[in-house]
Amino acid sequence: MSADQNKNFSADQSGASDESIQKVHAKLVSEKPEPKEGFKTMPLFLLGLVSTMIFVTSIYVVQHRGGFSPMVYDERYTPKPGGEGAAKELTPEQVVAAGKKAYLSACVNCHQVNGQGAAGSFPPLAGSEWVTGNEERVIRVLLHGLSGPVEVEGKTYNSAMPPFGKVPGGGYNWNEEKISQVLTYIRQEWGNKAAPITKDKVSEILNTEKARAKPWSAGELDPFK
Ligand code: HEC
Repeated sequence: MSADQNKNFSADQSGASDESIQKVHAKLVSEKPEPKEGFKTMPLFLLGLVSTMIFVTSIYVVQHRGGFSPMVYDERYTPKPGGEGAAKELTPEQVVAAGKKAYLSACVNCHQVNGQGAAGSFPPLAGSEWVTGNEERVIRVLLHGLSGPVEVEGKTYNSAMPPFGKVPGGGYNWNEEKISQVLTYIRQEWGNKAAPITKDKVSEILNTEKARAKPWSAGELDPFK
C-alpha cells in the first residue's frame, strides 16, 4: 500500500466529517459549565436554619443541664442556693411554720386553734407541763398515743390521743421530721417557751421504743416526767 492510499483509507474509515465533530463538541461544552475556583456563598435559608438550631440548643442545654451533676436524674432539676442538691436545712422560723401547718391539719380539731382544748374532753396544750416539760415524754405521746386518765393543769381527762408516728397501729404515720416540727410549734406557741425538739431526738426515741405497739398510759410515762 502506498502512502497516498493509506491517507485516504483512514479518512474514509472514521466516517465523521469535521463539521459533525464540531457539533458534538459544542453540545458537550454547553452542557458542562467550566468549574469555577473559590467558594459559593451559603444559601440564606441554610444560614437561618443553622443559627436557629444553635440558638435553640443553647436554651435547651441551659434549662436541662441539671448543674452538670452526674447524680442528677431529673433533667429539670435546678440546684438550690445553699449547696448542690444538699438537703435543705430549715430555719427555726420555717420549722415553726411547718409545725403550725401540721398542727392545723391534724391537731386543731381536738386541741383547738388557741391550744385550750375542750373542757372535759380534750386537754389544753397552752401552759401544759406535758408540752413544755421533758421532751422524752411528749415525744412518746405523739409517737404512740396516750389513753386513760391523765391530769393536765390540775384537771383530769380520760380519753384517747391517737398515735402519729410510723409505729404499729399509728394511723397518721408521720415521719420523724414532721413530728419534731409540730412538737417544736406547740412548745413555742400560746406563750409556751421551751426548746425546739429535733428530728434526731424523735428518731432516737422511736428506736428506743421499737417494741411499743399501743398507746401509753399516763403512769407508764411517769419516769419521763
Ligand atoms: C382525736 C382528738 C385528738 C387529736 C387529733 C390530737 N389529740 Fe392530743 N390529746 C387528745 C386527748 C383526748 C388527750 C388526752 C389523752 C387521755 O385522756 O389519756 C391528748 C393529749 C395530748 C397531749 C398531752 C396532754 C396535754 O394536754 O399536754 C399532747 C402534748 C397532745 N395531745 C398533743 C397533740 C398534738 C401535737 C396533736 C396533733 C399532732 C394532737 N395532740 C392530736 C386528743 C387528740
